[in-house]
Amino acid sequence: MSETTNPGLEGVIVAETELSDVDGEAGELIIGGYPLEELAANASYEESVFLLFKGRLPTADELETFRTDLAARRRITEEVRQVLRRAAADGAPAMDALRMGVAAASLEDEGGERENADVDTTAETGSGPRADAIRLVAVVPTVVATYWRYRRGEEPLEPRSDLNHAANYLYLLTGEEPTPADVRGLETYLNTVIEHGVNASTFTARTVVSTDSDLISAITAAVGALKGPLHGGAPGPVLEMLREVHEEGDPEGYVREKLEGGERLMGFGHRVYRVRDPRAAVLSDAAERLYAQSADADFFETVQAFESTAVDALAEHKPDRRLETNVEFYTAALLDGVGVPQELFTPTFAVSRVGGWSAHCLEQLEDNRLVRPVSRYVGETGRTWTPVDERGV
Ligand code: ACO
Repeated sequence: MSETTNPGLEGVIVAETELSDVDGEAGELIIGGYPLEELAANASYEESVFLLFKGRLPTADELETFRTDLAARRRITEEVRQVLRRAAADGAPAMDALRMGVAAASLEDEGGERENADVDTTAETGSGPRADAIRLVAVVPTVVATYWRYRRGEEPLEPRSDLNHAANYLYLLTGEEPTPADVRGLETYLNTVIEHGVNASTFTARTVVSTDSDLISAITAAVGALKGPLHGGAPGPVLEMLREVHEEGDPEGYVREKLEGGERLMGFGHRVYRVRDPRAAVLSDAAERLYAQSADADFFETVQAFESTAVDALAEHKPDRRLETNVEFYTAALLDGVGVPQELFTPTFAVSRVGGWSAHCLEQLEDNRLVRPVSRYVGETGRTWTPVDERGV
């Protein structure tokens, strides 16, 4: 057994995957064999999910069938709505509501136990892993939007099967048919964050299915892992920071105050990337295109200027650790630009990443090995039992 411990599992290879390759030194991301830059701006989200689930892009007919399948599974039951209505009434955060909604998604089953053992993993109907994967991708936007409508005191809308995945999500949130520019902006975002190696939430999902548990359990756990600000919870605070800087017009002062106060600048730094996150470049281009046509163009100028101020200040602050822009920085600007409310930034990350999580679960199940690392005991030894009434404080 190894004598060294690695609390964050940094650099430890825990799986072989065909889904994505994250090169943290070169700042390159390959998804299903395609450079991110190639995929993000061209693919529909449905094509990206198909690519991850099947290992290749669909033909036109396959894409049409896959779109129809996904669209047919977008609805949630009244029981799931009740859970979300209650979560909204109690003021539960959106990620907590999403966790509850995903967990309750198994209420849609016609009954029966869900387990992976002895289930044909290639079946796309019924309650096997592949069917669950498609249903999870289909329902997450509905769960998020239903919660949001209740939060705003509005009735949820019925999903529209004539709209693609991204357009339907925006429609469910706002009740209006989105513009092609907003749909393309959101779709580029969804493609960009769909898959990113064995990050904390993906590792969580793989660990859950490695016990031969089911995909709904795995994705519920992954939502919990994504919620934290060190993982998917950063873009909301990024937007607040950018709005404050835009209003006050003193980026240098803002950055200095935060760093001198020992705070972290949200949207910068990454466990794997030592250069600018390649997703930041893709999202920055998409946001630039979007803001060029919007009345908020001067806000985007602030965003770009702030990035270089922050990167310079971080280089001075931590000369031994390269802290560059991560994906969450431009996520904030892009999602705000397409009209996703700030409270839904992290759930919208999940709307995309559920595709990657599910694909990882399927990959894990194809050649499963129970995930079970070991710990090194550093506690006391040789203690003798003392009855409770003889113990001091
Ligand atoms: N601002 C200021 N200082 C920072 C930042 C930051 N954004 N990021 C790291 N540092 C500092 C740390 O304080 C630490 O300093 P210390 O050695 O004096 O304690 C040093 O740099 C190294 O930081 P670690 O925490 O060891 O780096 P790690 O690899 O664990 O963290 C993380 C990566 C969590 C993303 C970190 O950079 C961070 O907190 N960033 C801000 C939050 C954020 O943007 N999260 C989204 C990440 S992207 C994603 O998960 C999808």
